[in-house]
Amino acid sequence: MRKTAKFPPLKGAISVPGDKSISHRALILGALASGRSSVQGLSLAGDVRSTISCLRALGAGLTIDEERETVAVEGRGWMGLSEPEAILDAGNSGTTMRLLLGVAAGLEGYSVLDGDETLRRRPMLRVVVPLRQMGAAIDGRRNGEVAPLSVRGRPLSGLNHTLRVASAQVKSALLLAGLRAAGTTTVTEPARSRDHTERMLLEAGVVLEREGTTVSLRGPQEVEPRIWSVPGDFSSAMFLIVAALLRVGSDLAIEGVGLNPTRTAALDVLKEMGANLALDPDEDPATAEGEPVGTVRTRHSFLRGVRVDGDRIPRLIDEIPALAIAATQAEGDTVFADADELRHKESDRVEVMVQGINALGGTAEATSDGFVVSGPSRLTGGTIDPRGDHRVALAFAVAGLVASGTVTVSGWTATQTSFPEFLEVLGQATRGR
Ligand code: S3P
Repeated sequence: MRKTAKFPPLKGAISVPGDKSISHRALILGALASGRSSVQGLSLAGDVRSTISCLRALGAGLTIDEERETVAVEGRGWMGLSEPEAILDAGNSGTTMRLLLGVAAGLEGYSVLDGDETLRRRPMLRVVVPLRQMGAAIDGRRNGEVAPLSVRGRPLSGLNHTLRVASAQVKSALLLAGLRAAGTTTVTEPARSRDHTERMLLEAGVVLEREGTTVSLRGPQEVEPRIWSVPGDFSSAMFLIVAALLRVGSDLAIEGVGLNPTRTAALDVLKEMGANLALDPDEDPATAEGEPVGTVRTRHSFLRGVRVDGDRIPRLIDEIPALAIAATQAEGDTVFADADELRHKESDRVEVMVQGINALGGTAEATSDGFVVSGPSRLTGGTIDPRGDHRVALAFAVAGLVASGTVTVSGWTATQTSFPEFLEVLGQATRGR
């Protein structure tokens, strides 16, 4: 449990831990490659540790250097991976479960994937159905809709699949299985989702084609080992960006943060809301995976409500809890629409955000496909139960910075999932370093 009360302005230059999405992918690609890879500056938060332990259970050799935030991966190609002796525990991580379903589908042998209470509630048929069509035998509770799931890998064939809902996790699972399949695997999304997998596969020597929201690759293909250098996690940075926007007197630079445009639509929304933001892309980013990196400078700003909907939802889906807190301080209504996916995240984020904002004296209401936040509100203190959802916990900690009373976030350990260092980084920002 954590309490936050009045904080000083956020100043100076800070950085945030490595990007979670890129960390998962670098480890998985390292395990699939033949040879030694190294993943530098990765996130070592709970979700990525779940991927590490699953890959170890599949036979990949991974050595963690905690101090240097580096993992060495001894990959021996797909043939180096073997039937796991025990259940693969994805913990709280949807990315681990969905991406590794794609890997398990291409492995000879039998794997069982499970996760914690929240992951066991999340929809899996979106990935299970196309993997079955590629040839894998997958079963699970409610016919494979929810974990635990069992996978018997079989020889796979390529598939031409159109997703109903844009999802980088589903797209990535199919592309990973496609590396092992005979023939072409093509995935088309209704809107563009984060494209780290495509960029990183290209970097690892895989031939793939991209056109609009369609990506395809012809299997089987090998993955080359390489040194991955992971940029700062934009989704984690977002909590500090919103904190700096809301706290009078703030002027904060976040350096070395990933600025992949398929992740940063929240910055466009904040600019429309009137945020004083400046982006300074690094000219020669240290990262090796073709990912744009730079500095985001945020100054305290007065905000107005806007409409957030359509194609940009997948490119800011993880940032909606933080945006919703910004919206409590904006003049007028902020409408989040076309956002049903929020109900299938680590919690039902529509319900939990609406309840939490109202509990703190703000005004929010659920709609048929999202929610509306009306502002500006004077947030008071109160107790928030984030229902095990890391991003909800972090969002309400930020609300605590501008609330007049004390905000207590119960179940604070949920933040271990993605950003255990949050209070430390916030401390640096409030000390002006
Ligand atoms: C992720 C994709 C998104 C996102 C999640 C991470 C990824 O999920 O919400 O936090 O790393 O591919 P969906 O694919 O379900 O949209």
